[in-house]
Amino acid sequence: MPLLQTTSLSVSYDGQPALRGLSFSVEEGEILGIVGESGSGKSTVLKVLTGLLGPSGQIAGGSVRYQGRDLIHISSRERRALLGPEIGMVFQDARSSFCPVRRIGPQLCEIVRAHRSVPKDQIRREALDLMDKLGLEDPARVWESWPFQLSGGMSQRVGLCAALLLRPRLLLADEPTSALDVTVRRQVVEELLRLRAERGTAIVLVAHDMGVIRAMADRILVLREGSAVEQGPCSAVLDRPQSPYTQALMEAVPHLRRPPEGA
Ligand SMILES: Nc1ncnc2c1ncn2[C@@H]1O[C@H](COP(=O)(O)OP(=O)(O)OP(=O)(O)O)[C@@H](O)[C@H]1O
Ligand SMILES: [Mg+2]
Repeated sequence: MPLLQTTSLSVSYDGQPALRGLSFSVEEGEILGIVGESGSGKSTVLKVLTGLLGPSGQIAGGSVRYQGRDLIHISSRERRALLGPEIGMVFQDARSSFCPVRRIGPQLCEIVRAHRSVPKDQIRREALDLMDKLGLEDPARVWESWPFQLSGGMSQRVGLCAALLLRPRLLLADEPTSALDVTVRRQVVEELLRLRAERGTAIVLVAHDMGVIRAMADRILVLREGSAVEQGPCSAVLDRPQSPYTQALMEAVPHLRRPPEGA
């Protein structure tokens, strides 16, 4: 049985389709990369999995199963118990993961203690160690910070730290490295790969950066207007894309050059 299995999933917002009969699965310890142009439905996939579609979003059909359990018709109590320790989420807008009027440290403690009774010192030690591995300088200062004192890239890594502290079996990561410079991005990618090797964490990774996808994904799902145009092993999809849309998506990367003077 796959860890996660989505079958013919359709979602709409106010009647407008956003996902159209999407099927994919993720095995235990596997990294699935989701790519596709802006608006293709990548974040919507992750939101369905976490029950965070919002009031305008509706599941129009299909099923989502986590270890065989129906994730669509689950009670909110059961969902709360799963989210965090089983299924961790890193949001595209990292700042939205934190309450703006409380310092980072107490928020991280609260997140962990909602699921496990761990002494505060131990949470602080684990968090600072994780922050250091994710390339955050001066983790002790980050622990004391207010969310507004963190840059976009710092918030992104603290959001990742919050999710990883709970040691989820499945991590859903929406553009977790988009605000990071190349060196730090590499460090975060290496840390995520190390955690996967050590803990067997499966990851659904949404990223525009094909370098990150190539470095991390075992398999790739290519989304276009809410449908899968292609899915398969990472190297097959990246090096021998079958659909013209995937080819265009790959070619768009090196074509981002400075236009000639006067253009
Ligand atoms: N809360 C919402 N209400 C109405 N429409 C929405 C909502 N969220 C997303 N949509 C629409 O659903 C479609 C898919 O959006 P989604 O955010 O999943 O795309 P995405 O692939 O994550 O894009 P990006 O790469 O820009 O993050 C888009 O047409 C978007 O306008
Ligand atoms: Mg998105």
